Amino acid sequence: MSKTRYDGVQIAFHWLIALLIVAAFGLALYVDDLPLSALKFKLYAYHKWIGISVLALVVLRLVWRAWRGAPSALPGQPAWQVKAAAGIHHLLYLLMLALPLVGWLMSSAKGFPVVLFGVLQLPDLVSRNEALGHQLAELHEVLAYLLLAVVVLHVLAALKHHIIDRDDTLRRMLPGRG
Ligand code: HEM
Ligand code: HEM
Repeated sequence: MSKTRYDGVQIAFHWLIALLIVAAFGLALYVDDLPLSALKFKLYAYHKWIGISVLALVVLRLVWRAWRGAPSALPGQPAWQVKAAAGIHHLLYLLMLALPLVGWLMSSAKGFPVVLFGVLQLPDLVSRNEALGHQLAELHEVLAYLLLAVVVLHVLAALKHHIIDRDDTLRRMLPGRG
């Protein structure tokens, strides 16, 4: 079956996950500057819940993609552009999995288990180790900014297709009948 646009489930996953990533990012930057307080702990917990939700949704999204497939590249595009887009999409998926996983590992190493939505305690992925926790925090930060950079590239490419090339690239990721 050859598709010409993303299906409704893929579109919903794309925009919901994008929104959650922006929320997790913004929240982390805001919380980082707060003095140590109950509010800071509460907002970090929200940050972790959003991040773990991203992890779960991305896994489901990939299962759906493997099952239903994705539309092939629009005709008439140079081969390098098709390859670059596929490379960026792979990198985005990789970072969307690695970033929350490293966050979870970091929380385990620092001795702050993740209690999802305040009710479901997730297992610790590693035992407590302050030095490792510190290194994972650095890695989490690097991955977060790498994701930000790749997303900026991705968004610029989408806007270039829409505004300059005036093709259907963005339209096929938007809700509607196409
Ligand atoms: C989409 C997912 C995520 C994004 C975009 C994200 C992004 C960020 C960013 C930008 C920071 C601030 C980094 C800094 O300037 O130091 C941060 C910090 C943090 N994140 Fe995440 N994060 C995600 C998922 C998670 C998850 C799943 C967890 C844990 C289960 C987590 C735990 C933390 C913790 C504990 C910090 C504070 C680290 C420290 O400074 O000690 N994050 N995150
Ligand atoms: C955190 C933000 C975002 C992430 C992580 C993200 C991630 C992704 C991924 C992984 C794909 C590949 C889908 C697949 O083939 O399975 C994709 C496709 C797409 N995204 Fe995003 N996206 C984000 C934000 C945006 C924004 C803001 C726009 C629009 C301005 C956008 C426009 C598109 C378009 C048009 C496609 C389809 C590309 C094509 O058909 O080749 N994305 N996105």
